[in-house]
Amino acid sequence: MQRFENARAAALALRPDDPVYCFHPEVLKADARQFMGMFPGKTAYAVKTNGEPMVLQTLIEAGVTAFDVASPGEFAAVRAVSADAEMLYMHPVKAQSHIREALETYGIRVIAVDHEDEVAKLSRVVRALDLDPGAVTVFVRLQTKGAAAYELSKKFGAGPAHAVELSQRLNRMGFKVGLCFHVGSQIEDPDTYERALASADWVRNRIGFEFSGLDVGGGFPAEYGHDPRSRAPEMPSLGQIMSRLAGDLKEYQFDEMPLVAEPGRVIVARAFSLIVRVLLRKGRRLYINDGIWASLSDSWVGKITLPARFIADPAIRQRNGHDRNVVPFKVCGATCDSVDILSRPFWLPETVDTGDWIEIGHIGAYSLALRTRFNGFYPDTFVEVTTPFDEGDVPQGLATLETMAD
Ligand SMILES: Cc1ncc(COP(=O)(O)O)c(C=O)c1O
Repeated sequence: MQRFENARAAALALRPDDPVYCFHPEVLKADARQFMGMFPGKTAYAVKTNGEPMVLQTLIEAGVTAFDVASPGEFAAVRAVSADAEMLYMHPVKAQSHIREALETYGIRVIAVDHEDEVAKLSRVVRALDLDPGAVTVFVRLQTKGAAAYELSKKFGAGPAHAVELSQRLNRMGFKVGLCFHVGSQIEDPDTYERALASADWVRNRIGFEFSGLDVGGGFPAEYGHDPRSRAPEMPSLGQIMSRLAGDLKEYQFDEMPLVAEPGRVIVARAFSLIVRVLLRKGRRLYINDGIWASLSDSWVGKITLPARFIADPAIRQRNGHDRNVVPFKVCGATCDSVDILSRPFWLPETVDTGDWIEIGHIGAYSLALRTRFNGFYPDTFVEVTTPFDEGDVPQGLATLETMAD
């Protein structure tokens, strides 16, 4: 992989017409270590967020030993970088053949369920493989209520009374039983973990035996940009969220059992930035060479404002306006699809023009994992960049009203 000091150097050297992912391995290591240092339990990185071999390899180097996996493709991706990393199969709805592959081929012994049919599939496989159910820990996924860019409990999780029933059934069958939840990705309400813990406590008080662990899922918010016209969302920092979570775990006396978290976004978001090119400027619209069917679907669906930095093409000699005047541009994607328009603008100097580049920051989560080949576009160029996106010039996309044009 070619290495550059920053995205500007990469853009000016390569003059790329296709999107270029800038990988920041040291940022990834630092963010993974920071999370592991703060969370009072096991950190299982959620592979779905970004399962590129370079990411998984770097996480192993950073000391990550456990991974949340959802499919045979993810089992194989983890095994390809580590012979002994632990895998937790935390997807609640699974094909029976995949459960068998998990248990038989990959030696997975931690699995999640939220329905009796999943319990039935699991027990058929355990019987067929002649395994001791006591060697398998089954986490019952509990529904939660919260505010997040992606609400997951609309789709997954058993209600509290159902979770009690499932837990008791699994316990009678001889499995080790834990409880898990996922409060939604990119939480927007700092009270959300406490509400989930209150509900977990309600379940724990009714099962009549001890849970063997609690998995608090993901949801920990990554830092993104914000729209200077609206008030910045008042989310506490990761450190504040973690110390509150640790306090709540203690209060509900979950701190004495083995704890797990499955962070994705908060670990990998800052590990990549993306260089895109402006294919066309039409007034206050920019048509770029990426879009919702490639790296930007997460920001589209999750209504996330991404930080953006202007990289001017020095070959453009005549510009209108002033670099310091930062304005919102509507961003249209590369495909012929009319829905391929981002739901949030990019904040950039009014001088940006056809042929310039933009470095989009904090794009490591649910970006390259979700890209498609629609319309024949498939960004797949990577460079390594040594300077973190957040160092150097302030990205215009993080502008506040005060730093905008005077
Ligand atoms: C089961 C499970 N675990 C972990 C994650 C990662 O969540 P996040 O990226 O919000 O940390 C997800 C995301 O959808 C998930 O479904």
